Amino acid sequence: MSEAMTDARPQGAAEMPAGPAPPLAILFELSHRCPLQCPYCSNPLALERAHGELDTATWMRVLDEANELGVLQVHFSGGEPSVRKDLEELVAHAARIGLYTNLITSGVLIDRARLERLAEAGLDHLQLSIQDSDPANADRVGGYKGGHAKKMALAGWVREIGLALTINAPMHRHNLDRLEDIIELAASLGAGRLEVAHVQYYGWGLKNRAALMPTRAQLDRATGIVEAARARLKGVMVFDYVVPDYYARRPKACMGGWARQFLNVTPSGQVMPCHAAETIPGLRFDNVKDRPLSEIWAQSEAFARFRGTDWMPEPCQSCERREIDWGGCRCQALAITGDAAATDPACALSPHHEALVALAEAESHTQAPPFAYRRFTAE
Ligand code: SF4
Ligand code: FES
Repeated sequence: MSEAMTDARPQGAAEMPAGPAPPLAILFELSHRCPLQCPYCSNPLALERAHGELDTATWMRVLDEANELGVLQVHFSGGEPSVRKDLEELVAHAARIGLYTNLITSGVLIDRARLERLAEAGLDHLQLSIQDSDPANADRVGGYKGGHAKKMALAGWVREIGLALTINAPMHRHNLDRLEDIIELAASLGAGRLEVAHVQYYGWGLKNRAALMPTRAQLDRATGIVEAARARLKGVMVFDYVVPDYYARRPKACMGGWARQFLNVTPSGQVMPCHAAETIPGLRFDNVKDRPLSEIWAQSEAFARFRGTDWMPEPCQSCERREIDWGGCRCQALAITGDAAATDPACALSPHHEALVALAEAESHTQAPPFAYRRFTAE
């Protein structure tokens, strides 16, 4: 039995089968609609349209079920979650039942009045994405003219209202050389946390990999800048630094390990262990319309498939890091090796690692192709 399974049982319930420990957090992808078109969006290529989205009552019920399951945090995300008119209602309900609420937003649709309503509803924290410190390039990457200025205005109101703020800065070859400015910008906006997150290559990021991949020299410089800024801004701003897997020696524990800490609910109610799990052939996902969340967490075929360590091949199976990184990312293993059950090729022990590094080196040194912007495909 892996660490993902708990053997803590109530006294006198010796017959009760041990289930997985409860998840820490749930991500509500309220909608795939979004005014921005970032080419590294983690949403799937086939986006869900508005008519397929869950209604308010169902989202409310899922909040209750998440709370009963032991979830502590709810992240309202998308697409852009503020396209939903019921966002305040959902935040209020989550706050009422004691969940920590975080809004992950592009920020361009929220005016001051709406932000005040969200704060009154009980919003604890806001995570604002920025594309660059340079307004013109930020608007180009996001595919939305005037977006950067709107984000700056929102960050000002967040500070005035007194909400906790994280700035999320996805990094890639088109903005990495301004990392120092981006850090200064986040600090000047009063962010308590900055996520310097090199783009991860799944969803739209995988489609745009050649357009986004930095060189190793860019990455090494960025790592030095983050380390220096971390020391300089200690006690002022916390840094989360996510390196691009393609240049790593060991993979990250994607989602904290498959079905260990997090679950995502898509706009139509599919419950997923990560953003990109739908790309894995043969996995069957449950829907909150059909089963309670606790049952899905404990019994969903898709969750059980890569939970823990039993599924692991060598070299993971006998590796001392198997309960640290949980074998890395299943979706990346699939994308690169064609097998979701393979060792993540970000790991230097994977037989596919050298090919992954060669791919990154080659793509980062060719002229960047134009972005394939995130858009709904014509039906
Ligand atoms: Fe992680 Fe597997 Fe690599 Fe070990 S062999 S470091 S468990 S990915
Ligand atoms: Fe699916 Fe990493 S994105 S496991």
